[in-house]
Amino acid sequence: MTIGQPGAPRHKSLSASEPTNIYQDSWRHKTQQMPVRPRLKGMTSIFDPIVLRGLTIRNRIWLPPMCMYQVPLHDGVPTDWHLVHYGARAAGGFGLVIAEATGVVPEGRITPNCCGLWDDAQRDAWARIVDFVHQRGAAMAVQLSHSGRKGSGWWDFSGHTEASVSLDDGGWQTIAPSPIAFPGYEPPREATADELKAIVAAFANAAHRADQAGFDTIQLHSAHGYLLFEFLSPLTNHRTDEYGGDFAGRTKLLLEVCDAVRSVWPSDKPLIIRLSATEWVDGGWSPDDTVRLVPLLLAHGVDFVDVSSGGNVPASIPLGPGYQVPLAATVRQAGLPVSAVGLITEPHQAQQVLDDGSADVVEIGRAALRQPSWPLWAAHELGVDPSSITQPSYGRGGYPNR
Ligand SMILES: Cc1cc2nc3c(=O)[nH]c(=O)nc-3n(C[C@H](O)[C@H](O)[C@H](O)COP(=O)(O)O)c2cc1C
Repeated sequence: MTIGQPGAPRHKSLSASEPTNIYQDSWRHKTQQMPVRPRLKGMTSIFDPIVLRGLTIRNRIWLPPMCMYQVPLHDGVPTDWHLVHYGARAAGGFGLVIAEATGVVPEGRITPNCCGLWDDAQRDAWARIVDFVHQRGAAMAVQLSHSGRKGSGWWDFSGHTEASVSLDDGGWQTIAPSPIAFPGYEPPREATADELKAIVAAFANAAHRADQAGFDTIQLHSAHGYLLFEFLSPLTNHRTDEYGGDFAGRTKLLLEVCDAVRSVWPSDKPLIIRLSATEWVDGGWSPDDTVRLVPLLLAHGVDFVDVSSGGNVPASIPLGPGYQVPLAATVRQAGLPVSAVGLITEPHQAQQVLDDGSADVVEIGRAALRQPSWPLWAAHELGVDPSSITQPSYGRGGYPNR
């Protein structure tokens, strides 16, 4: 059974018998059999800084956006949970901490327990978190998002078997390019052209508040089957107006959002986009489409692509160590720097991604949930002086026997 099919679990459950079981430490097993290639002088280290416009990020180990579902009051205001969660990873040495999918409007949240950035209370709560992350030497991004047809959902582990939150429980009528439901979810309504204009404006308003809150960069969420990606895909966008049809029509909303955000986002601050580079389905959005899109993104003010995949329709995804790294390498050829993400768990593996020229940055997601100080651990494993990434007291954790 595939993720997203009716009756299937909403998230792939992993069994010990599956060869792609992500909890098997297969990369560690593999690295024990592989000779570690000598690093050539001049090669980029995961601990080297990276400069994007006027922003210098202290290293190339980034925390990808991960929803925490920790907003109990459903008001979109981040809490002490977020301060501790993001603060710990900043103290642990991450270069850029990317805050989770954050709704630009209430109906743009993934769940009622997700964060927002559509009002000043949210902005002020984020400012406190950004401030702390900065004190720990990391830069901070927020992932601005509209959830589209995958909004109004119960979060994993919430204990609910149904996917959608009812209106009585604080859910909402979702919108999408076309009235096609994600399997298991309530059907969305087709967004009107006026609603799309309002959504473009909402992205710009959230970007303006993100700047006021002190965020160093914004990541636009155009991956995993949320609204901006739903428009890109011919599988979920069946519109006959100017926002549908051919490649130009399906990319129109995303490029309008880029322009609107750029118009309020300071020119010395970089703009990042997360894309699903492929849907892993014939007839869906493909790596070729992504490569074709990148020069347009560059022309519309985007500086960096976070390369992910899937999530829009049920698909069989070849999970395994670094399974999205080849996609990052392909997208990188199109002219923008990229990050690779997805089952990168070990320091040598992460360094190899850069040594191979596959990406400019690595992102460490679930491994960073297990290990908030992953970069500090990586410094220890790779024999790198950790003093550039963290405060002196934590530095003791980076050296053996000191
Ligand atoms: C708990 C959790 C929440 C996530 N939330 C988001 C999110 O808000 N936005 C997003 O683009 N990806 C999200 N992801 C995907 C991660 O950013 C990342 O791409 C994915 O986990 C693969 O990387 P990893 O193997 O290093 O964990 C989430 C993943 C997890 C485990």
